[in-house]
Amino acid sequence: MENTTIKKQTIFSGIQPSGQLCIGNYLGALLNWTKLQDDYNCLYCIVDMHAITVRQNPAELRRRSLDTLALYLAVGLEPEKNIMFIQSHVPAHAELAWVLGCYSMFGELSRMTQFKEKSVSNADNINAGLFTYPVLMAADILLYQADLVPVGQDQKQHIEITRDIATRFNSVYGDTFKTPEPFIPKEGAKIMSLTEPTKKMSKSDLSGGSIFLLDDRDTIIRKVKRAVTDSGSEVRYAEGKDGINNLLTIYSCFTGKTIAESEKEFGGVGYGDFKLAVGEATADALARIQSDFKQYLSDKEQLNGILKESSERAAYLARKTLSKVYRKVGFYSL
Ligand code: TYM
Repeated sequence: MENTTIKKQTIFSGIQPSGQLCIGNYLGALLNWTKLQDDYNCLYCIVDMHAITVRQNPAELRRRSLDTLALYLAVGLEPEKNIMFIQSHVPAHAELAWVLGCYSMFGELSRMTQFKEKSVSNADNINAGLFTYPVLMAADILLYQADLVPVGQDQKQHIEITRDIATRFNSVYGDTFKTPEPFIPKEGAKIMSLTEPTKKMSKSDLSGGSIFLLDDRDTIIRKVKRAVTDSGSEVRYAEGKDGINNLLTIYSCFTGKTIAESEKEFGGVGYGDFKLAVGEATADALARIQSDFKQYLSDKEQLNGILKESSERAAYLARKTLSKVYRKVGFYSL
């Protein structure tokens, strides 16, 4: 029989357990991940080492790391198909990050938008980890020879620097790393804050601009009702209508309709009724995730089992790349 087996490509992505996950994380990343699990070898990481670049409460970080795994499962990532693990459980991430740090330039790291923004929002703690954050991210991705990295728009620059670091290393030592491509969804790649629709929605915004995956129905509907829009009255995707554009995007992503279909549906409808529909569609979609989340979280033994098995599988794959790198740079081995 003709051998038609095509080797599956590898996917790597991660989320920081640095706050409650919001619908930006879901629509920009998680939703995309669930669509890839049948066709790719997928590794999805809970990047706790990245999270400590900003001060974390230790008990909360521990709890959120497990919550994040329960959410990965609740959105539909199956443990049989995906390697889901915690970054600090696989030491090769830190080890490769050190080596790659010696092939990353001060200038290029200084130009990272996220570093510049976080230096402003964390002015009292601009630590070295915040600066070398993209190097650890490059290590995450390159360790597994990932082909694709499904992320939201805000992480594109970090994938670009990962490619630059990989290319630089390969040009010195010969082919060592695959250069990964970003994989960004067409809709939902940049969900904006409900209260400041020119700003990205984030996990850390507790002022009502973010809808969290575990928000209850009333909270979701109230937040959408208060969303900033414009002085117009037409539900239409257009320049200058950032608030409405964002709500249309959220509605389309949660219902699976196109923006054009959604515009048509709300032709002649006022902002108030439109907002109610967006809130309800969001709450309906999240209710399903929330009930599965509760169930997964109630079985800690199962969660620990998944983490243990996954980190062993990840460590095995990571070790292969790390050994190659150590040999190439000239580390003496026994
Ligand atoms: P993090 O934890 O900030 O976000 C997780 C994922 O959610 C996406 N995202 C959004 N997408 C659309 N709209 C938004 N408002 C929004 N906010 C966040 C992010 O783009 C991301 O895909 N550095 C990464 C974590 C990381 C990583 C990696 C990712 C560490 N190592 C290796 C990929 C590969 C981060 O901080 O994501």
